[in-house]
Amino acid sequence: MPLPDDFLYELKVRSDITDIASSYVTLKRRGRNLVGLCPFHSEKTPSFNIYPENGSFYCFGCGAGGDVITFIRKIENLDYIDAVKLLAQRAGMEMPESSYDNSLSELRRRIFEANREAGRFYYSTLYTSEGREGLEYLRGRGLSERTIKHFGLGFSPDKRFALVDHLKSKGFKPQELVAANLVYQNKNGGISDRFYNRVMFPIIDLRGNVIAFGGRIMTDQKPKYLNTSDTPVFKKSTNLFALNFAKGGGRSLILCEGYMDVIALHQAGFTSAIATLGTALTREQAMLMKRYADTVYICYDSDEAGQKAAQRAIELLRNAGVDIRVISVPGAKDPDEFIRENGDKGRERFEQLLEKSGNDIEYRIQKIKQKYILTEQSQIVAYLTDCSQLLSELENPIEAEVYAGKLSDETGVSKEAVLRQINGYRKKKVRERTKKQFRDIQTVVSGRDDRVNSEKAANLRAARAEEALIAYIINNPDEAAETVKLLPPEKLVTSFNRRVYGIITERALNGRDIMPADISGEFTVEENGKIAGILASLGGNINSAAARDDCIRVILAESEKITAESAASADINDIEKYLEKLKQQKK
Ligand code: GTP
Ligand code: MN
Repeated sequence: MPLPDDFLYELKVRSDITDIASSYVTLKRRGRNLVGLCPFHSEKTPSFNIYPENGSFYCFGCGAGGDVITFIRKIENLDYIDAVKLLAQRAGMEMPESSYDNSLSELRRRIFEANREAGRFYYSTLYTSEGREGLEYLRGRGLSERTIKHFGLGFSPDKRFALVDHLKSKGFKPQELVAANLVYQNKNGGISDRFYNRVMFPIIDLRGNVIAFGGRIMTDQKPKYLNTSDTPVFKKSTNLFALNFAKGGGRSLILCEGYMDVIALHQAGFTSAIATLGTALTREQAMLMKRYADTVYICYDSDEAGQKAAQRAIELLRNAGVDIRVISVPGAKDPDEFIRENGDKGRERFEQLLEKSGNDIEYRIQKIKQKYILTEQSQIVAYLTDCSQLLSELENPIEAEVYAGKLSDETGVSKEAVLRQINGYRKKKVRERTKKQFRDIQTVVSGRDDRVNSEKAANLRAARAEEALIAYIINNPDEAAETVKLLPPEKLVTSFNRRVYGIITERALNGRDIMPADISGEFTVEENGKIAGILASLGGNINSAAARDDCIRVILAESEKITAESAASADINDIEKYLEKLKQQKK
């Protein structure tokens, strides 16, 4: 059952898309619309648009789009009902009585509760005889009671059913625990604890929900860490450890590799430390960090793997548009070890590392330099070539000039020559980018890459007219009755457009609203994006009845063609069947 119209109407009125999007994105007015850097992909020039007139957004760069509910679904990783709930709460509205399908939302709520209860259980186990080893381990790594409590660290007993029994006694059902990934399901259908004999690190989201756990073994056995797999409330690629604590500080973050690094840094007073969840940094995580920080200090392990991972993180964070500083920890394998080995001076010395950290360009030039012996002429040329390629990526020409000066001092090659090389690479990049943009536009126009309407490419003429007509009806709902008479839904050629057209015309005929926010519950996030794209690119193109009639004529003609073609192929089939029948009769 969908949500009642009057509820959605009020929600829509009270949830202005401009207000809501501006708490995630910096927007600038441009004519009737607003534009900003898209929060769903990395870009340097804004292609993310807000259309206050119809309450929708659309990004011409990545095709994300939809109404305010779809925006919340995407940016907060929620399903439709939970996004509505969040907006209702923000607007001070009660959710209507359960007339809607609440099952996924309800399961998510139960998983949060089970996780919270599991967290409490692991924490209190630390202070029982079963958990003594865990507590000693954490103390042995230098953590105070206060830190243990702050992070809610805990211990999973060395038993197979400790948590299962506890949560069952609290009324949780086995399938809820399976969905939370707190237990394993055995072949015979029974369940047993997923985590045992491990020190437990709860992972908490920005609203304070426990969404997952990491569990560390206390010996050298493998795997060292066991983490919750993705569940309906958790995706490891889109969350960050300790961001719930770190986001409140200034606009900077310290990105580490491990849970223990983060905890040691917080304990030493660096409460802006965060970490990924046992995977390499992702684009989503970089975008998430950008929401809370202008500067990110990357502080990865000093081994080769850590340095490789740092290079990758630099790429992603630079694309996300944050200023980057790179810290290397001297004489220690990771920040946790560095803090501990420096004892009382740990805090002060790490502070110094932050202060003297270089930006990512300096770091990358340093890395390039390590490949060459700069006393040899031929190697100097190769070194400058590599550096010029790197510097040609800089948006800011003054920055490039500064580094060109430094390289010139270092190698004795004139600054002008270095700058010439940089500019050569820059021009080449611009040419490549322009070519790519052109190819991208061609792909969109041809419908080749249209994942929502896969029939578009094969029926381009019809699909384009259908899209124009859909935009026309959303903008002119009063024309729906008249339009349906001229073109009943079944005449539309592509099935996605047929469905959209069917839904909006039927609603309009019944006097219901058809703005993006009114219909978004009927479509997936991708489908809403596609509809927003149709509105954004064709919105004002046809706005007269005559233009509408042209579209209808095209669609009807294309539809006729297809009917004729399928009739022709049906004929062949019929003949074959007939011949087959004759054969049978002869026998
Ligand atoms: P300590 O060794 O206890 O100091 O932990 P650490 O946090 O420094 O871990 P390390 O640098 O070895 O690894 C960094 C992060 O990668 C950890 O915090 C985990 O999130 C993840 N990780 C490490 N080992 C494993 C593993 O065996 N399995 C999985 N899934 N993740 C791991
Ligand atoms: Mn470590």
